[in-house]
Amino acid sequence: MNDVVKQLEPRLEGLGKPLIYAASLGSTNTALKQMAAKGQAHGTCLLTDYQTNGRGRMDRHWQARAGSSLLFSLLLRPQADIARMFVFTALAGLAICNALDEYGVNAQIKWPNDVFVQGLKLCGMLSEINKDGSLVIGIGVNVNQETGDMAGLPGISLKMATNKQWSRQDLLVFILNNFTACYCQWQQAPCAWHAAYIERSWLLGKSVVVREGENILNGYALTVAMDGALLLELDDGRRHKLSHGDVSVLAIDGKYK
Ligand code: BTN
Repeated sequence: MNDVVKQLEPRLEGLGKPLIYAASLGSTNTALKQMAAKGQAHGTCLLTDYQTNGRGRMDRHWQARAGSSLLFSLLLRPQADIARMFVFTALAGLAICNALDEYGVNAQIKWPNDVFVQGLKLCGMLSEINKDGSLVIGIGVNVNQETGDMAGLPGISLKMATNKQWSRQDLLVFILNNFTACYCQWQQAPCAWHAAYIERSWLLGKSVVVREGENILNGYALTVAMDGALLLELDDGRRHKLSHGDVSVLAIDGKYK
């Protein structure tokens, strides 16, 4: 067992065990999906310091300087129907926000898969369903990046938000233990996450722009339904249900977030 695992695993209260650490690999999501296909256990966490082929949503790349970010994936084998998988991404978002609360950092969830701090992207999540019905949730949190590391993207790191260096390992433990608490709550009360999610939502009540193929829709974000769809009221008064995609908000500085 390597030192990272020896130090961290005893601090985990449920999800995240077994913890597997590799200093560098292609993508924690890709590797954990392969392990899931071979029967890897529910709760497994794959952690790395650097990814050579980190993946984001919509086939984007996810790049981070070695050691600057918290990069991990978690394997879940919930007794739930695949159509309800959104709930686990929501639980992950809530766990990250709750963990940051413990540090005094206020965070919100930007539908569908981002965590925002001070109105900027701090964290992205990539949830992928496997053929056997298990789910891999990959999480990338910007931790110790400086402004110059953000490659011109409108993101933020915890260091930029708080002016101090953060321990990525402590943060991982806080996130995983909060995830365990959220997951246990979901098992006891499967609908309780929704109110917490709505309360944490950064997008709701804002004017948004959505690109759907060639179409550009302008509207207002009304709510997120229990199935994870974003409900919009379009500028022409029609209601529109968005089950996936990217939504932008026009900021005061004229840039889209
Ligand atoms: C996004 O915002 O598009 C989602 C980004 C998800 C990045 C994380 S980093 C750890 C895990 N492994 C990957 O290859 N991607 C996710």
